[in-house]
Amino acid sequence: MASEDGQKAGGAGGENEGAEEMVVNPWEVAVKGGGKIDYDKLIEKFGCQRLDSSLVRRVERLTSRPAHVFLRRGVFFAHRDLEEILDLYERGEKFYLYTGRGPSSEALHLGHLVPFMFTKYLQDAFKVPLVIQLTDDEKCMWKNLSVEECKRLARENAKDIIACGFDITKTFIFSDFDYVGGAFYENMVRVSKCVTFNKVVGIFGFTPEDHIGKISFPPVQAVPSFPSSFPHLFSGNDNLRCLIPCAIDQDPYFRMTRDVAPRIGYQKPALIESSFFPALQGETGKMSASDPNSAIYVTDSAKDIKNKVNRYAFSGGRDSIELHRKYGANLEVDIPIKYLGFFLEDDDELEHIKTEYGAGRMLTGEVKKRLIEVLSEMVERHCKARAAVTDEMVDAFMAVRPLPNMFS
Ligand code: TYM
Ligand code: TRP
Repeated sequence: MASEDGQKAGGAGGENEGAEEMVVNPWEVAVKGGGKIDYDKLIEKFGCQRLDSSLVRRVERLTSRPAHVFLRRGVFFAHRDLEEILDLYERGEKFYLYTGRGPSSEALHLGHLVPFMFTKYLQDAFKVPLVIQLTDDEKCMWKNLSVEECKRLARENAKDIIACGFDITKTFIFSDFDYVGGAFYENMVRVSKCVTFNKVVGIFGFTPEDHIGKISFPPVQAVPSFPSSFPHLFSGNDNLRCLIPCAIDQDPYFRMTRDVAPRIGYQKPALIESSFFPALQGETGKMSASDPNSAIYVTDSAKDIKNKVNRYAFSGGRDSIELHRKYGANLEVDIPIKYLGFFLEDDDELEHIKTEYGAGRMLTGEVKKRLIEVLSEMVERHCKARAAVTDEMVDAFMAVRPLPNMFS
């Protein structure tokens, strides 16, 4: 079987990125020269599969509910072995979900909510357990934050994650600093022995100047893909399959994981991967926590949201009303339209706006106004839910405990 480490693609962030100069790895998402991210090319480079509409319909049939907006509209656009997961589910077997967050900032932005909102839908639709990794160790090593600060941020971020509505009887949230050890660490060592320095350089683009903490981190993110890392949940269930929802920037970690798995006698994790919720300035990058004006945070007030959308959201509208009426908006580059595609649930209304705006009958200001309403409402709902999350609830989600009803 072909190796999955992305060597043929020249790595995820390594030097030989090819003429298009598209860099997509866990630390950087950028297109040199200001072009758009070419997701078809990413599928080819990374060697994943396209998530097509027949697969979406299959998910609907198996779960007896309409697919999530993010599936219907192709936000989750790529996968690895999702068919196998659906095959076994159809036979009456279950699987578990694994996702995570690197706690590097106080507040999440809307892009961070994408995988969590989607994971919540998957948990409800398939009725399966979920583990959520908070990589406080990772951010401590990459962001020059102290151990204590990262641990604090992990708990703060856990509140935002819990606010997405996860079912406490089926969900285990853990921080690496607290949980790594025991069976989890044994699996890390098994993985580490299979990955050479050359290999991580190929996959992640590390250089000899990077400290060894970075170089040795990938097994930490790899092993939650293996059920034996969670004996309190899955003991005696060593062949349980794992499905990982994430944005495609995380793919390098899991290419490495899938490459190693069969060599240590484990199942490869399956993946379902999303495109990026774009920055306000346009689709050349992902919404990123490092540039506050590129992002809308779940802590932004209605007034902040209004200002950011009106000031920074890149518009495909024309320069003057006359030209706009004549040629219509360029929907391909219009950020308000992209954002509505993620968060306006009503398919008919979205189609209507696209038609009218594209024909020049609707103006940018009107589209932005609708977007501001949609985002403000969503952020307000999130804030209310987050305010209701107590420290006791965080402790309860993070307690190492069995989940007796996690499959029902
Ligand atoms: P982090 O905290 O950078 O991001 C958390 C999750 O959000 C996704 N994401 C986005 N999705 C859509 N649009 C965006 N603009 C956007 N920005 C970030 C990320 O892909 C990720 O799914 N190392 C990881 C933590 C982790 C993890 C995992 C993630 C550990 N194990 C397993 C996914 C699956 C991190 O720092 O994510
Ligand atoms: N490595 C991710 C980041 O830097 C965080 C993360 C850890 C993660 N485990 C995960 C993301 C699993 C998705 C799925 O952002």
